[in-house]
Amino acid sequence: MRFYLIGAGVINRTHAEAIYKIEGEEVIEIKVADPNPAALASFAERFPQVTTFTDAKEMLNEEPREDDIVIVGTPPFTHFPLSRMALESGRHTLCEKPLVMNREEAEALLEIAKANNRMLGCCSVRFLQVPKTDEVKRILNSGELGDVYKISFVFRGQRGRPGIEHQPESRWFLDKSKAAGGIVMDWGPYDFTLLNDMLQPVSVEVASAWTAKPETDIDPKDVVYDIEGHVGAMLKFQQASGKSVWVQYERASCTHGEPYYTVEIEGTNGAVKWSPYFETDQVLVKSDKNGEVITNENTIPYEGQIGYMDHPIHFFYQKVKGQQSPAVVNEQAVFNFLCLQSIYDAAASQQAVVLRRK
Ligand SMILES: NC(=O)c1ccc[n+]([C@@H]2O[C@H](COP(=O)([O-])OP(=O)(O)OC[C@H]3O[C@@H](n4cnc5c(N)ncnc54)[C@H](O)[C@@H]3O)[C@@H](O)[C@H]2O)c1
Repeated sequence: MRFYLIGAGVINRTHAEAIYKIEGEEVIEIKVADPNPAALASFAERFPQVTTFTDAKEMLNEEPREDDIVIVGTPPFTHFPLSRMALESGRHTLCEKPLVMNREEAEALLEIAKANNRMLGCCSVRFLQVPKTDEVKRILNSGELGDVYKISFVFRGQRGRPGIEHQPESRWFLDKSKAAGGIVMDWGPYDFTLLNDMLQPVSVEVASAWTAKPETDIDPKDVVYDIEGHVGAMLKFQQASGKSVWVQYERASCTHGEPYYTVEIEGTNGAVKWSPYFETDQVLVKSDKNGEVITNENTIPYEGQIGYMDHPIHFFYQKVKGQQSPAVVNEQAVFNFLCLQSIYDAAASQQAVVLRRK
């Protein structure tokens, strides 16, 4: 089984580790391409069994096999041309988040995947199939919350900007023409992959949205820094049954306000609160007893050899092998990306934007 990694930076090291955890393949071959000799050398030092290339095109030149997988782990402005090259080389392609830079690229890439009869996946699936979230999905679908009318999805960090507080060596995160955006494009892919997985909407309406760029004393002045650090939106998720759920969405990688997170689903008979991410494994279910709120507390840890960080690779591998998998590919990958684009569109136009599933 052959994996072709484009990019030898931070995330493709994580993906290489995940590839070596795949069971059931006798021989796993990894090739990696990066034009930066320093990145390539330190990648090869960590994974001496890989074959290195300075040019991705040259790496993909050999005859494709049916189950070859390319992983695009480079900055977002390169995702479209590199994923196109990978798909046109006749290989299934798993691209890092955000999938691409804009709507035009998203739609064009889907056409290229279809024309080449290959799958296009996105790495935004990291937090799917996690036991605590699966339990929340079970509760949501069981009807025990009554008529579900609202979700609060709020993650506010005071200082957590990639390119400044995290990974300061990767300044491209701060430049919209390279990163596609700020916190919307950095964490939004995970948030909307989760929300779309849980709610299965036929359409998503961004009723209103805003973005802001809070400033700090350590903001870099020597590089382009034009991405937002804080976003808010009110969204309506319309389901096939005709039912709709409002989602109050907020994300900050920089705010001078209080840091906190709240992910809570509210229905007419109860509410459930949890973190789909790293903060806690607690699932709190609230309901009424004799006019009082009662809370049922459950802790559901995620154990085992395969962790969150391994999910994108393992799910896509399962999908390519025709196995049951929560991997997000093709139309769904593009729909998830377009939700993010729609937030920007609504914030810029100050008008509602409706995105329908084709
Ligand atoms: N760092 C993280 O924790 C993290 C987590 C999840 C997702 N991601 C996503 O992964 C992607 C890459 O992020 P990163 O943190 O690994 O960046 P990085 O800056 O650490 O590495 C990017 C690498 O891509 C290489 N590159 C650029 N153009 C190339 C090309 N044409 N061909 C081959 N290589 C090329 C660069 O030389 C660099 O080594 C981004 O889309 C990011 O949003 C990163």
